[in-house]
Amino acid sequence: MLDLDRQYTPLHAELLEALGHVLQTQQFILGEPVAGFERAAAAQLGVAHAIGCSSGTDALWLALAAAGIDRGEAVITTPFSFFASVSAILRAGATPILADIDPATFNLAPAAVEAVLNGPRGQEVKAVLPVHLYGQCADWTAFTHLKGKFGFKLIEDAAQAYGAQWNGTKAGGLGNSAAFSFYPTKNLSAAGDAGMVTTNSDDVAERARMLRQHGMRRRYYHDEVGWNSRMDGFQGAILAVKLKYIDGWNQSRRMVAKRYHALFHAAGLAESGPYPVHGVVLPHEVPGTKHVWHQYVIRTARRDELRAFLAERKIGSEIYYPVPLHLQDALKSLGYKAGDFPEAERAAHEVLALPIFPELREDEQQTVVAAIADFLS
Ligand SMILES: Cc1ncc(COP(=O)(O)O)c(C=O)c1O
Repeated sequence: MLDLDRQYTPLHAELLEALGHVLQTQQFILGEPVAGFERAAAAQLGVAHAIGCSSGTDALWLALAAAGIDRGEAVITTPFSFFASVSAILRAGATPILADIDPATFNLAPAAVEAVLNGPRGQEVKAVLPVHLYGQCADWTAFTHLKGKFGFKLIEDAAQAYGAQWNGTKAGGLGNSAAFSFYPTKNLSAAGDAGMVTTNSDDVAERARMLRQHGMRRRYYHDEVGWNSRMDGFQGAILAVKLKYIDGWNQSRRMVAKRYHALFHAAGLAESGPYPVHGVVLPHEVPGTKHVWHQYVIRTARRDELRAFLAERKIGSEIYYPVPLHLQDALKSLGYKAGDFPEAERAAHEVLALPIFPELREDEQQTVVAAIADFLS
């Protein structure tokens, strides 16, 4: 599914030197290794502030809490995401309200969000948290329009979308605040857990910095109950090295996605969608956006059988995500039931992520597509 060695091997010496520098200066937590990465990431994303923290999960909580989301307030998000998109709302003391997805992009559907805003719970909603799933921005034009009409904060879950763009603006600079994950499988990855909040607001940035250090502005004077969400110096140093390469890696992912498209079309397997019939529905890039292909996710009707067939041929694949969040045991208290979000539920049965990473070779992609063709014939 993913061969991290191909990224790591050419960077080995550069990464060791950066880690050696942290050992020599002993700035193990925050300090200059993290501050240097924050400055470089903010400049690269075109945002005023980047605040490094300990994981994408903590980044989501910080992005919500620093933007002022508080107890008793409601936040709308998607049921088709990683668990943290919802658990971070609960961690902030707020109430998640879910709305269904667009079957073509798998991202939160603006029309479904608008229906919630016009419904009985609309008044409670203080923020909307779209997820840029698989590396493609959610429909920011539509969400900005709704924000103007209803007046809420927009928080981005950009965990999977470092470098993605919507109409020329990079993810991280679209909302009131945004959260990134640098989990080792992400497009820009640390050597362990790490995350980051971005914002163009001086106030939100100042609050995020305070909250990631137990609510301290002055050492041992706690203004609010925050948490320990600090980034390690080693992770900051590694990320600063990798940041120099991320644009090239994302460009390579775009090329790999284009090759999959061409191979599936040449094999006569591509269907127009959004739902599959006999073949596969390919993922697509919304015009005016830049997809960074964190995942290349097809839809197919006999998904589980296909996955087993690929596994027999030693071809990796993954399901993001097999159970929508409203059907997770841990979230039963939200009060949803099967049938509440039919698009998310259907997607959970049909999506299959194929191997994609910058160094994936064309012959390997041909093997993947040929195996799928064999299965479907
Ligand atoms: C959409 C989404 N949100 C949040 C997270 C949480 O990030 P982390 O694993 O770094 O805590 C992830 C990554 O796993 C993710 O994919």
